[in-house]
Amino acid sequence: MIVDRQGRRFRNLRVSLTAACNYACTYCVPDGKRLVAAQDELSADALVRGVAYLIEAAGIERLRITGGEPLVSPRLDAFVRGIGSLGLKDIGLTTNGQLLARKLPLLLDAGIKRLNVSLDTLDAEAFRRIARGGDLATVLEGLEAARDAGMRIKLNMVPLRGQNLDQVLPMLAYCLERGFELRFIELMRMGHLSKPGAGFAQQFVGMPELLELIAAHYDYVQADAPLDATALRYEIPGAGTFGIIANESVPFCRTCSRLRLSSTGWLHGCLSSSNRHYVGDLLDKPRHQALPALQGLLVKALADKQEIAFAGGVTVMKIIGG
Ligand code: 5AD
Repeated sequence: MIVDRQGRRFRNLRVSLTAACNYACTYCVPDGKRLVAAQDELSADALVRGVAYLIEAAGIERLRITGGEPLVSPRLDAFVRGIGSLGLKDIGLTTNGQLLARKLPLLLDAGIKRLNVSLDTLDAEAFRRIARGGDLATVLEGLEAARDAGMRIKLNMVPLRGQNLDQVLPMLAYCLERGFELRFIELMRMGHLSKPGAGFAQQFVGMPELLELIAAHYDYVQADAPLDATALRYEIPGAGTFGIIANESVPFCRTCSRLRLSSTGWLHGCLSSSNRHYVGDLLDKPRHQALPALQGLLVKALADKQEIAFAGGVTVMKIIGG
């Protein structure tokens, strides 16, 4: 097993099925940038082989399917069917929910029971301003359908000053009523937001402020979370739980166990590093050739992790997912 000086190893793999997305969220896509079609993406078979090889070479136990928006990918069907037999402990999917109702049968069929749905507001106008694509009512319908089908659902909300802070309490009430776990993600300095003058500081809302907003309406206590979790979890007794992914306020790099594989075949050991390692060519090779080469690259990818805290980076979530 590949382990670093801090005792970290890769356990959780995120595979970005495509860099394409049907949204253009303000914090992900710079103003005036047009959405371009994803290029040079690997086949579903190559990505499935990538997962199988990484289970063996890195000791991956859990998988999350991300994007871009994974549900827009024509490779979704073949990919979810392919990974079903690899013996993973857990398979989750992160989506913006726009195509959720339509793809639900396929996901259920593939044994996917956990969804993270990105939703920053329940206000239709604010939704259009932030997501710049899709439609709020469609997401809400998808969420109801997934809940009725028995999926375990977390909602991701990025609080942004001046855009959706008035939605913190309505979003929490909405989630508590439905048994969804709301998770606030502190804005990260990624992509265009990592550049000076991009308005990161003006938009950023930290954990202390969020907790203060919530404390005005709810009593909460800190709840348990797995050791390598990114979210701090809180329980509102008798009502449910919520979480905060506090990249800035409470950095979690020391226990990070994440590895990311992009749709174009690059391994990313850290979101905060611009280093990446090409493995697309290895995925066409037989196991005995691919594994030794992969191990060498995994050592490098693990060394890309920050010691303590996320420092920002040019990589964007659109390419590599959350
Ligand atoms: N900071 C914080 N969260 C982000 N996401 C995308 N870009 C950023 C950013 N710069 C969120 C999306 C999605 C999750 C995978 O990451 O909203 O919910």
